[in-house]
Amino acid sequence: MSSSSVKSYSSALDPLNKAWKTPLLFSTVKPISSVISLFLKAGLALSTVFFFSLLLRLSISHYGQPYNSTTTFNHMLHTQRTQHEPTNIGHIVFGIGGSAATWHTRRHYTELWWRPGATRGFVWLDQNPSDTDPWPETSPPYKISDNTSSFKYTCPYGTRSAIRMARIVKESFELGLENVRWFVMGDDDTVFFPDNLATVLSKYDHNQMYYIGGNSESVEQDLVHFYTMAYGGGGIAISYPLAEELVTILDGCIDRYAHLFGSDQKIQSCISEIGVEITKEPGFHQVDIRGNPYGLLAAHPVAPLVSLHHLDYVDPIFPNMNRSDSIQKLVTTYKADPGRTLQKSFCYDPLRNWSVSVSWGYSVELYPSLVTTKVLEMAFGTFKTWSSWRSGPFTLNTRPVINDPCEMPLVYSLDSVGNAGFGETRSRYRKNLLRECQREEYKEALGVQHIDY
Ligand SMILES: *[C@@H]1O[C@H](CO)[C@@H](O)[C@H](O)[C@H]1NC(C)=O
Ligand SMILES: *[C@@H]1O[C@H](CO)[C@@H](O)[C@H](O)[C@H]1NC(C)=O
Ligand SMILES: *[C@@H]1O[C@H](CO)[C@@H](O)[C@H](O)[C@H]1NC(C)=O
Ligand SMILES: *[C@@H]1O[C@H](CO)[C@@H](O)[C@H](O)[C@H]1NC(C)=O
Repeated sequence: MSSSSVKSYSSALDPLNKAWKTPLLFSTVKPISSVISLFLKAGLALSTVFFFSLLLRLSISHYGQPYNSTTTFNHMLHTQRTQHEPTNIGHIVFGIGGSAATWHTRRHYTELWWRPGATRGFVWLDQNPSDTDPWPETSPPYKISDNTSSFKYTCPYGTRSAIRMARIVKESFELGLENVRWFVMGDDDTVFFPDNLATVLSKYDHNQMYYIGGNSESVEQDLVHFYTMAYGGGGIAISYPLAEELVTILDGCIDRYAHLFGSDQKIQSCISEIGVEITKEPGFHQVDIRGNPYGLLAAHPVAPLVSLHHLDYVDPIFPNMNRSDSIQKLVTTYKADPGRTLQKSFCYDPLRNWSVSVSWGYSVELYPSLVTTKVLEMAFGTFKTWSSWRSGPFTLNTRPVINDPCEMPLVYSLDSVGNAGFGETRSRYRKNLLRECQREEYKEALGVQHIDY
């Protein structure tokens, strides 16, 4: 091994000399054979469920509507044919909350992840965009939201646009699009990672009522806006059957919760009336933080990255790059290997007593000492809370950033990711120029200029 580069490797040795085995690599990738058998099992289970639901549906009329056996049966056959396929991007209808006045300054966020022809959905605007500029082909198509002037809104510090945003799920549903399993709502500054979103949603039975998303990272926000809520900027996923129920009560419900500030609060309140609770998924990120998001991203949970929000409100995610180039870089990396983006792995070099923590596609930390995984998994508190700019509390544990380079790891940021052949990727990380520790044990580590993984 040359002193200028470290390759990570697994080892049966336990350098920490403990009775337990060190989890060297956390990976969400399953061996193909087990994935296939999982699909087979899921398929079997689904077809059994389908068979019984078919019997049930044929024997009762649904929601008291006049029973038309021809349409129901055709619909059932169609459903049966498509039911078995795992959820993919095409099953999702996105509803992006936008406005005519700000779309041109916000659209770069959506255009990073929007794939014309593959992703379905609309940007919902308050009025027609100006005729002078043609609507960009790289943007999702737009729709104009219904007039909401007849609804009540009494939150003194909010804006009425919350009503329009809350109704996006209803107006999307009422378009009557075919073969929809999920409605996913986001803000115009939400960056979705659609392949991972589909992976996460495919874990759930879309024939059941599901409400999926994540909380704010700042406890102060969760105290005000509820822990029971999927935060709108991080994205709200609603399964078709839940949307079908929700649209019947939403308008009345919006008036009932007129005092609530945000559209996400109104949606959650209405869903609570249906009796459905949030299913939290750790890949949805509201990013209700300020300052440097490094700690949050370098210690991402072992789950697919689904969304990032508020990127205009935090420092650029890569050093020495502006915001737009930084997020573009992360999205490019994501496209090389979606499921691995920000996935964490730790390893140890028992010859040198070094510890290495990798956040794939983002950063590597090199510690010239043996550090327990318990410490490594904890995020550095490089960021502040959303509204009070305090150092906590957050809904994740943090460890302090110490102003002494001898107490901190060397940090390497993603330089590039490339194709290593045989369906594998190679990512390269370059050392950040930070103040360096001059102590003996850092000497050799300081010689490592880049790390390949
Ligand atoms: C049932 O639906 C089919 C197809 O939409 C239509 O042709 C037929 O007239 C309907 N039958 C009744 C009784 O409404
Ligand atoms: C919305 O409806 C109200 C009342 O019907 C009307 O006064 C207003 O002009 C409408 N707004 C738009 C943008 O059409
Ligand atoms: C970001 O930096 C790149 C390269 O330095 C530059 O081309 C681009 O205009 C910058 N973008 C913004 C929004 O400043
Ligand atoms: C690594 O640590 C072990 C004990 O934890 C120690 O015995 C060994 O000498 C160390 N090796 C190096 C190269 O420092």
